[in-house]
Amino acid sequence: MIHVVVGISGASGAVIGLRIVEILESLGAETHLVVSRAAERTLAEEVGPRAFSRLRASARHWHGVDDIGASIASGSFPTGGMIVAPCSMRTLAAIAHCLADNLLVRAADVHLKERRKLVLVARETPLHLGHLRAMTAATEAGAIVMPPAPAFYLKPASIDDVVHQIARRAIDLLHVFEPVAAQWHGALEHTEADDVIEALVSTTDQAIRMERGQ
Ligand SMILES: Cc1cc2nc3c(=O)[nH]c(=O)nc-3n(C[C@H](O)[C@H](O)[C@H](O)COP(=O)(O)O)c2cc1C
Repeated sequence: MIHVVVGISGASGAVIGLRIVEILESLGAETHLVVSRAAERTLAEEVGPRAFSRLRASARHWHGVDDIGASIASGSFPTGGMIVAPCSMRTLAAIAHCLADNLLVRAADVHLKERRKLVLVARETPLHLGHLRAMTAATEAGAIVMPPAPAFYLKPASIDDVVHQIARRAIDLLHVFEPVAAQWHGALEHTEADDVIEALVSTTDQAIRMERGQ
């Protein structure tokens, strides 16, 4: 049984963390979930008022963010890796600078010190130099920084497609399960998704022209 830690912090994209937990559970992982207080807010704002309790129930193990004595706070507890999704700039900076003052950051710090996989789905835009420096420091310490950028070349037809692909890519970066993300094998065939994207682009173009009075 593989233990995987999932940290959800208060950046936009809480649904990505939610999907990661669901997919890991479907893969048979022993998921350990830790959610920051800000993420309780983003889950409520972005997903819905009951999202946090649903998420808590769907993970095999839930740990309070202040429980710095939880199993995942120790390097002696074996795991197959940790994903922080989404990863706020505050949590990113705390991880990059070893400020392990809550369980989420402590568990990430443990993954770095034990030289295990740590994937940070870092979300902010635009980025200032402090954000970029924190990403560099986290990368130098051994983390993988994976911004939640859509793979447009896979022609996603919905936001759910985008979210699923990002969630699956983050899981694949752990290299503990068979790959689950969609893969590029050269040019794709024309699909219904192409029609949806073309319609969206032409509607957006029209809206811009109207806005400009053209
Ligand atoms: C709706 C909402 C969206 C937010 N989006 C982001 C974001 O994309 N990136 C980020 O770094 N912070 C974002 N924040 C701010 C963080 O939640 C805030 O900095 C918080 O202190 C992060 O704490 P944590 O790292 O312990 O979760 C957002 C806050 C709210 C309420």
